[in-house]
Amino acid sequence: MGISIFGLGYVGCVSLGCLAKNGHNVIGVDISETKVGQINAGKATIIEKDVNEIIAGERAAGRISATTDGISAVINSDISIVAVGTPSTDKGHLDLQYIFRVAENIGEALKKKTSFHIIAIRSTIMPGTCDKFADIVEKISEKKRNVDFAIVDNPEFLREGTAVHDYFNPPLTLIGSDNRKAAETIAELYKQLPAEIIITELKIAEIMKYINNTYHALKISFANEIGNICTEVGVDSFKVMDIFCKDKHLNISPYYFKPGFAFGGSCLPKDLKGLQTLAHDMYVEVPVIDSINKTNEIQIQRAVKFIYKYWNKKLGFLGLSFKAGTDDLRNSPTVTVIEALLGKGCDITIYDKNINLAVLTGTNKEYIDSRIPHLATLLTNDSEQLINDCDVIIINTKEPEFLRLVDKLKGKIIVDFVRLDESLLDKNNYFGINW
Ligand SMILES: NC(=O)c1ccc[n+]([C@@H]2O[C@H](COP(=O)([O-])OP(=O)(O)OC[C@H]3O[C@@H](n4cnc5c(N)ncnc54)[C@H](O)[C@@H]3O)[C@@H](O)[C@H]2O)c1
Repeated sequence: MGISIFGLGYVGCVSLGCLAKNGHNVIGVDISETKVGQINAGKATIIEKDVNEIIAGERAAGRISATTDGISAVINSDISIVAVGTPSTDKGHLDLQYIFRVAENIGEALKKKTSFHIIAIRSTIMPGTCDKFADIVEKISEKKRNVDFAIVDNPEFLREGTAVHDYFNPPLTLIGSDNRKAAETIAELYKQLPAEIIITELKIAEIMKYINNTYHALKISFANEIGNICTEVGVDSFKVMDIFCKDKHLNISPYYFKPGFAFGGSCLPKDLKGLQTLAHDMYVEVPVIDSINKTNEIQIQRAVKFIYKYWNKKLGFLGLSFKAGTDDLRNSPTVTVIEALLGKGCDITIYDKNINLAVLTGTNKEYIDSRIPHLATLLTNDSEQLINDCDVIIINTKEPEFLRLVDKLKGKIIVDFVRLDESLLDKNNYFGINW
């Protein structure tokens, strides 16, 4: 496959060398004559372990060259990889001027090209940018997307300092596309790499780098806040975080990583507050930790606001406790939602087979008595009857028995906090809380 790469910075230079090392012929394109000259002299444009040797070797083998002439590079290749910068503007928005200039360049080239061309965006871009890029190419080239050319998003996961190692050992290869054939052609470029290749929707691929990098920033800031608290209480933060990372069940794992409803229960809210108070007492500022509960409250308000749209309908809740398989109502965010909706005069029925008011004791009983004193009048022990009688069904927990009710749910308005079953998603009357 002949490949042209637009942008010979960190991503472009590493991709140029590594794709050539995997046997492809690659033409680098940059607006900088200096960078083009460096590549043609067999030198890397960046300081990075192993890149200089790779560029020198591949240039000597005749597999790489560079030019400032983007049009000839596109005409002489089947695939164009776009790796130009996408910096922030002064106001924090993405500056897409470099990306769109490449779109114009490729559009001009495609005017003169008859064979099918694939464009792979490797730069980090916001959802919707590939579509805008393709619109520019279509307008300038007068060619048609998915007839004469296709566009895919193929985000780069390398880190500076270990870029070559990361290129050959990516966590995964991600390709977003509306054109399966183009996605599979791009997947071929990476078939030697020891990583799963995931082909998905364009916008999912486009947003992925932002999610990853924001999470990485969150990890660093979280670890730093923990380090600051530990320092004040005379605990070695490195030992703490080493042990933290050894828990691969709940800490370093996919667990708790599902979007859905707010957290609650007897432990998370209490212990979060405990650590916040400890930090406060030590005069340690912990804005990341402090904001966790705020996000949780916003999620509860989101649910109230959404369900209240149906204020004049009969509302039925499947599940009341803070998660499936427990009767613990303490700090169940759904209790807060129901309390708010009752306060606004809504007609509510609740089914939760785990809740038996006669045997509720201690703090659990005190909690519910103080929040929904007449709970007994709202509870039913017949889930099917609740579905029959109510217009809007709110699914609060992922009880296995609710899965057996999926077919009965399909005619109702559904507000789902837990993504009970994928088959519900294609219904017009179905609303996930954040999907
Ligand atoms: N640097 C990283 O570690 C890294 C990792 C993953 C993803 N990314 C993303 O990849 C993209 C590129 O990042 P980078 O660090 O390689 O950028 P960079 O600034 O190092 O390189 C960009 C290059 O594009 C060239 N360029 C600008 N306009 C051009 C045009 N019209 N035609 C041809 N070349 C043009 C510039 O001259 C420059 O050499 C960004 O979106 C970035 O967010 C970067």
